[in-house]
Amino acid sequence: MTDIKQIISSLIEKEINIDVYDYIKEIDDPSKGDYAFPCFSLSKELHKSPVDIANELVDKINDDRIEKIESVNGYLNFFINREYLAKLVLSEYDKDKENYGREKHTETVLIEYSSPNVCKPFHIGHMRTTLIGHALYNIYKFLGYNTVGINHLGDYGTQFGKLIEGYKLWGHEYDLSENAIDKLVEIYVRINDLCANDEEVLERCRENFKKLEEKDPECVALWEKFKDLSLKEFNKTYDMLGIKFDSIRGEAAYVDSMDEVIDMLAKKNVLSVSEGATIVDLTKEGIKAPCIVKKSDGTSIYATRDLAAILYRARTYDYDKSIYVTGYEQELHFKQVFAVAKYLDLDKKYIDGLEHASYGLYSLKEGRMSTRKGNFIKLDDVINESITKAKEIILEKNPDLEDIDETAKKVGIGAVVFSDLYNSRIKDEVFDLDTMLNFQGETSPYIQYMYVRIQSILNKTEGKVLINDVSYDKLTDGLSYELIKTLYDFNRILNEAAKKKEPYILSRYLIKLANEYSSFYSNNKVLDDNDEIRKTRLYLISMVGEILKSGMNLLGIEMPNKM
Ligand code: ARG
Repeated sequence: MTDIKQIISSLIEKEINIDVYDYIKEIDDPSKGDYAFPCFSLSKELHKSPVDIANELVDKINDDRIEKIESVNGYLNFFINREYLAKLVLSEYDKDKENYGREKHTETVLIEYSSPNVCKPFHIGHMRTTLIGHALYNIYKFLGYNTVGINHLGDYGTQFGKLIEGYKLWGHEYDLSENAIDKLVEIYVRINDLCANDEEVLERCRENFKKLEEKDPECVALWEKFKDLSLKEFNKTYDMLGIKFDSIRGEAAYVDSMDEVIDMLAKKNVLSVSEGATIVDLTKEGIKAPCIVKKSDGTSIYATRDLAAILYRARTYDYDKSIYVTGYEQELHFKQVFAVAKYLDLDKKYIDGLEHASYGLYSLKEGRMSTRKGNFIKLDDVINESITKAKEIILEKNPDLEDIDETAKKVGIGAVVFSDLYNSRIKDEVFDLDTMLNFQGETSPYIQYMYVRIQSILNKTEGKVLINDVSYDKLTDGLSYELIKTLYDFNRILNEAAKKKEPYILSRYLIKLANEYSSFYSNNKVLDDNDEIRKTRLYLISMVGEILKSGMNLLGIEMPNKM
């Protein structure tokens, strides 16, 4: 994509021989121009006041691509030639179509997301990591990075010793071919109750876990069975949401590398023993809590497995960036792990590439969600409720719609996904279906509705609209130009969302685009009698539709064709 900022920067550089690219900023208020260059940054170097610099430059710069330049209080404000920008945007789109905004990069970016714990329900707490991570994955991939999506399954821990014992005792009472996770949870609750009153059972559970660590075939087979059953259910949820991974590799895969991690840390002389456990003191790093790397019974711990995973990922993927998407309650954990990782035998590049993308809590309208109290909400239930509600709303508006179930699915799922991605990650979210499904709100159904309306206008027209039929001089009015500028911005927005690891930057952009389309449509007749105007506007709105779709797809949302 042609970079307008670069054009302006070169025009200035030609006059003063200084690269000013980084100082040029977009202007939000179109009456003041499109880009501003503050001349303050040059004042020292040129020994002149910013006002004088601006006044001199304004007379010197002359280029067809710039409509006019104003010198205002030491700022140079550039107004882009509207026809030029319209032609630039539409012809680049014509060339690239659904690839408009794409780039090519050579860096490898790992994104770890979802990572639920097996044998536990997939509740809406896990929804955020899944949706935020998946959107980031899509955005990075679209921008051409070599992107790897990783599911770091929670498939390890002493609870499996208990589950194995419970299964041996009562497994025959349960049919695990359906709703296996619910049943495994039940078994887990039962065995915990028994353990509370019976030391001997508890001992057997510990024994099972030890056997599992020692790769006892019976224990391993049961553990694998639990894991497979859980994954089968998780996959149903992933399928429904269109979530994919390049690698599903659980914590258990890293247990055997504990010794290697410990050896590396020992060689760096950073290990000490505290209450029987092996720890790394991190006070020098400004972290008060030490990182435990080996429990007093000699087994690995969550952090050790994460350290081993860093080794594995560096060796396997040679990554440039490795992003972890989890709740903010794991902030200390990742600070510790990243700090300890500096002592592994790894190139500095791998340590610098570690990034934690944390997010806030999800709560229901009534109050905070809690798993421990048992009043957790399963993600599947939430999605199904949203789909049912979406269907009711659509039926009311359009009772004769064909494929109503397919549409309700796209609208219902889109509503949940979009609302999760509409605010900065770290903000706590309140889950409220009525807000999410409001067709007039800042929601997915609103964007989908705009898209569907565009398709219905395009379907009414004779044949395909072609770029050769576009008259760029018909796109210079304020509302058309606003749309063109926003369409021009698509690639920049994607880059910003990727850099800040914030899908909301894209969500808000799509709302802006939909809003601008709505004003454009209310004020400009698309199906005008004038051939040139009609064809030009049709081409413009077809691009708006495609970008809305492209952006929504990146967030993980599908577009209906009718609704
Ligand atoms: N399984 C963990 C949980 O559900 C999340 C894992 C996050 N990733 C990691 N590399 N520690 O809380």
